[in-house]
Amino acid sequence: MSYIPSPNRYNEIPYRKSGKSGIKLPEISLGLWHNFGGKDDFETAKKMLFYAFNQGITHFDLANNYGPPPGAAEETFGKIIKADLRPFRDEMLISTKAGYYMWQGPYGEWGSKKYLVSSLDQSLQRLQLDYVDIFYHHRPDPDTPLEETMGALDLLVRQGKALYVGLSNYNAEQTKKASEILKKLGTPCLIHQPNYSIFNRFPEHGLLDLVEQEGIGMIAYSPLAQGLLTDRYLNEIPKDSRAAKAVFLNEERVQQMLPKIKALNIIAQNRGQSLAQMAIAWLLKDPRLTSVLVGASSVEQLENNLQALQNKSFNENELIEIEQISK
Ligand SMILES: NC(=O)c1ccc[n+]([C@@H]2O[C@H](COP(=O)([O-])OP(=O)(O)OC[C@H]3O[C@@H](n4cnc5c(N)ncnc54)[C@H](OP(=O)(O)O)[C@@H]3O)[C@@H](O)[C@H]2O)c1
Repeated sequence: MSYIPSPNRYNEIPYRKSGKSGIKLPEISLGLWHNFGGKDDFETAKKMLFYAFNQGITHFDLANNYGPPPGAAEETFGKIIKADLRPFRDEMLISTKAGYYMWQGPYGEWGSKKYLVSSLDQSLQRLQLDYVDIFYHHRPDPDTPLEETMGALDLLVRQGKALYVGLSNYNAEQTKKASEILKKLGTPCLIHQPNYSIFNRFPEHGLLDLVEQEGIGMIAYSPLAQGLLTDRYLNEIPKDSRAAKAVFLNEERVQQMLPKIKALNIIAQNRGQSLAQMAIAWLLKDPRLTSVLVGASSVEQLENNLQALQNKSFNENELIEIEQISK
C-alpha cells in the first residue's frame, strides 16, 4: 500500500522564516549525508523519511556526493519520491549541492559554471525531480571568480532548475562578497549552511552577524558533532556507529572528547533532556538560526531528537557551564 502521511503532521513542529525571505523551514530538518547510501538499508531509509514527514519535517537536505558511492543518496531519495512521496512534492523543500569532487577531469568539482550546471542536471536525474528548492554552492572555490560561481547559481534559478540558492562553508567575508553579487543579479542568497554545534563555533566568528545583516537564514549542519553530542559513545563505540566506520569520525576523536561529552551529559540530565536534545535546543535558542539539520541512522534517533523542541530555553548558569566545558 502506498504511503499515507499523518493528517496531524503540521501540528507537531514549529517553522521559522529563512532570513528575510518568505520561505519557512521546520526547526529540525533531516540530512541524507549518511545512512541513505547504496549499501545502507533501504527500508530503514524509507522509514526515517516517512517518520520525518509525518512529524512535519518538510525539509530534506542532500548533495551530489552523498552516498557512498557518490550520488547514491540522491538515487535512494529519488526512488522513494517516485514510489511514495510524489503526491507531496509541493509540501517538501528539497535541497542539493555541488562543490566537492564528483567526476574526473577539470569540470568535476569546485565552482565553475560548467561544473555547477552539469552537476545539477545529474542531481535532478538521480532525484527524479524537475527542480530542487534550494541549490547550494557546497564550498568556496579559491580559483574561480565569485562572479562566475554566483552567476551559475542565478542562471539555474532562471532556468527553473532551482527555486532558491544557498552557500555552504563560506566564511563571513566570502559570504558578504557572494551575497552582494547575488543581490545585484536578483537572486538573493536564501540560506547559509555552516558546521555549527556546541563543539564547532565557526559561525560565531562573524558569520551569524553577517547573515542577520544580509537577511540570510542559517541552517546548522552536524549539530550533534556527527554523534559525539549524544549518548552514543558514553560507554563504548557501538559497532554500527559512525565512529566505528572510522571515515569521518574515529575512536581517537571520541576518546579525546569523552570528558567533555560526559560533563555536558550531566547538564542535559539535569534539564531532563538527552544530550542530543540539549545540543539541538542550544542551537535553536538563537533566533538567527532557521533550522537545525540533523542526521540519523534510525527512527528512534529522530524521535529522540524531535523531543528537543519541548525545552529550548536555558538559564544563565547552564549557558556558562556549557561554554566552560566546550572551550
Ligand atoms: N554542507 C556541508 O558541507 C555538510 C557537511 C556535513 C553534513 N551536512 C548536512 O548535515 C546533515 C547532518 O550531518 P550529520 O549527520 O553529521 O549530523 P549530526 O546530527 O551531527 O550527526 C548525526 C549522527 O549522530 C547520531 N545520532 C543522531 N541522533 C542521535 C540520537 N538521538 N542518539 C544517539 N545518536 C544520534 C547518528 O550516528 P550513528 O550513525 O553513529 O548512529 C547520526 O548518524 C547531513 O546529512 C547533511 O545533510 C552538510
